[in-house]
Amino acid sequence: MFEVNIVTIFPEVFPGLLDISILARARKKKIWDLKVTDIKEFLINNEKIDDRPFGGGPGMIIKPDILQRAYEKAIVSFNNPRIDKIEKIMLTPTGENLNQEIVEELSTNKEGMLIMCGRYEGVDERFIEHNDLRKISIGNYVLSGGETAAIVLTEAVVRFLPNVLGNENSKKVESFNKGLLEYPQYTKPRVWKNKSVPEVLLSGNHAKVDNWRKTQSEIITKKRLTNKNKKNYS
Ligand code: 6GU
Repeated sequence: MFEVNIVTIFPEVFPGLLDISILARARKKKIWDLKVTDIKEFLINNEKIDDRPFGGGPGMIIKPDILQRAYEKAIVSFNNPRIDKIEKIMLTPTGENLNQEIVEELSTNKEGMLIMCGRYEGVDERFIEHNDLRKISIGNYVLSGGETAAIVLTEAVVRFLPNVLGNENSKKVESFNKGLLEYPQYTKPRVWKNKSVPEVLLSGNHAKVDNWRKTQSEIITKKRLTNKNKKNYS
């Protein structure tokens, strides 16, 4: 079972979107499981969770000792005795950009994830260093916290685990298209708002259909790479 533990100051957010459709079914089938660790439970007495940054500047920084207590509790929550098989992740906009390659690497080579959600202006860097966390971002924009990113990361990784997608084929098609974006799709009706479905898709000629789709994928991918989104696709 692929174990996920999300460490956050907003545990009420979860499971949320992780408990619908394909992921809910996969969890019932015990392909994966989700635990949530509430950082606030690790405050001692009237301790504050955050404080002003040394050196000045805006915002508040979550203190390392509180994060460490929550982190260590999350570490011992894993049933898997091979803790090296659990990827320990800090979600932060300064991390490496998540992409399908990283998703497949995590879902193939790891047996779980411990996901730390940052908040406010950030967390004390020593906490990240001390635990040698892998910093991951979900894109080049800023969110108020890592919770949304935790849902994105978990959904992307879990849906790639074996036996999660009803049709293993859709995974195969995606892998086959590695590096290429997907071709456009059509269904009934054949004519809608005066627009017809491309003729080749109705031909019944599988070789021709495959060829058309491959060309479309290449055209769409090339278009993306020539606009200003370029660096997101490197
Ligand atoms: Cl992982 N966290 C925050 N706060 N903002 C982000 C992000 C993560 N990824 C993109 N923007």
